[in-house]
Amino acid sequence: MPSADAIFPAGFVWGAATAAYQIEGAHDEDGRGPSIWDTFSHTPGKVANGDTGDVACDHYHRYPEDIALMRELGLGAYRFSIAWPRIFPTGMGRPNPAGIDFYRRLVDALRAAGIEPYVTLYHWDLPQALQDQGGWANRDTVHRFGEYAHTVAVALGAVVHNWITHNEPWVAAFLGHLTGDHAPGARDLRTALQVSHHLLLSHAEATEAIRAEAAVGDRVGITLNLSPVEPAGDTNADAEAAHRHDGYLNRWFLDPLFRGSYPDDMLRWYGDAAPTVQGGDLARINSPIDFLGVNYYFRSVVRHDAASGPLQVAQVQPAGRPYTDMGWEVYPGGLYALLTRLHRDYAPAALSITENGAAFADQVVDGAVVDAERQSYLHDHLLACYRAVEEGVPLQGYFAWSLLDNFEWAYGYAKRFGLIHVDYATQRRTVKQSGRWYAEVTRENGVRG
Ligand code: FCB
Repeated sequence: MPSADAIFPAGFVWGAATAAYQIEGAHDEDGRGPSIWDTFSHTPGKVANGDTGDVACDHYHRYPEDIALMRELGLGAYRFSIAWPRIFPTGMGRPNPAGIDFYRRLVDALRAAGIEPYVTLYHWDLPQALQDQGGWANRDTVHRFGEYAHTVAVALGAVVHNWITHNEPWVAAFLGHLTGDHAPGARDLRTALQVSHHLLLSHAEATEAIRAEAAVGDRVGITLNLSPVEPAGDTNADAEAAHRHDGYLNRWFLDPLFRGSYPDDMLRWYGDAAPTVQGGDLARINSPIDFLGVNYYFRSVVRHDAASGPLQVAQVQPAGRPYTDMGWEVYPGGLYALLTRLHRDYAPAALSITENGAAFADQVVDGAVVDAERQSYLHDHLLACYRAVEEGVPLQGYFAWSLLDNFEWAYGYAKRFGLIHVDYATQRRTVKQSGRWYAEVTRENGVRG
């Protein structure tokens, strides 16, 4: 019998990911200032069930227990984000020593457990005080982000060797400023596009700041949410819609990062709404990064629809396919297609899957969570990664989203993505079946059978 084992190259990094606002809680402790997500979640009607991140998974207090769980899962790495408003409660001025201290303790405890920290600087929690001055639409925020990155690099640079500047700038720009589904809840295309440019420019500024402090071997990257885009039908209009959606979602970020220009077709499409770009910006954005972080959840299938938003693109949910509790299609082949395309078209020096996972309506029954669907989702996506690695894609790591069930943004606590179940009433953690299975994956360095 031929073996169906998918054993990854030696040194492949197995991790899990979280984000500060989604797990930490302790929203007003030790000098933390408010972020745009505090404001947004406390605004009635913005988040399902009126949920907020005030307490979340109480990870701020329970991180030793959570690190013990990471060890149970055999994680070699843990990707988390730093809450900017813990470090700069008003976005500028003097850093807050208690905020820095929390992350130092966290990183030290991770290191003591043999777990490599992967630090994301921005996972959407802009200090509210900076939003009050225009937020990411204001070019000054780029410099504030550079100062913040520099402060964190000085404080943690000796113990952190893997940095991610931004998480999913597409989401921060467009869900935050075009659809209004995320903080700060704006709804304007020109603003969203200007924000996207400032996020990319701030990635460049933060990269420069980290590199100024970095030691040999330290690595800086950025994480993008990417999806292969397919036309729903075989008309030219649908094919053009798919190309446009690819421009909106993927190329708008990949082209400036890897080619130093925004895609011409998208600049033409956006017309007057296109962002103001100053001389030199694109060259800085185009500076080499050490790795590209890829967050993959689903593919996009789209059709032309003149009535659908500024892109004239409507999403289609193919019939007869499996969907997660988010309504996201389960499509592992999309991850293979994405990785091979990135390698072919943009050739990043290295890639890491910085998020991949699925929400299902898990329940604890007799002390156990039997989440076979999540396990099979992860299994099939890991096989897609393996195929890409076999074909020479320089994929170096995989981080499951998420370590814990947590605050899923506009969906609040209703959606569970964790390898570990959280009972929010008691903060009790229960490793799910998928978590136990993932522990085998990390131990075996791959999937057997
Ligand atoms: C991504 C986010 C992450 C989480 C997952 C489900 O877009 O980066 O925080 O919400 O989706």
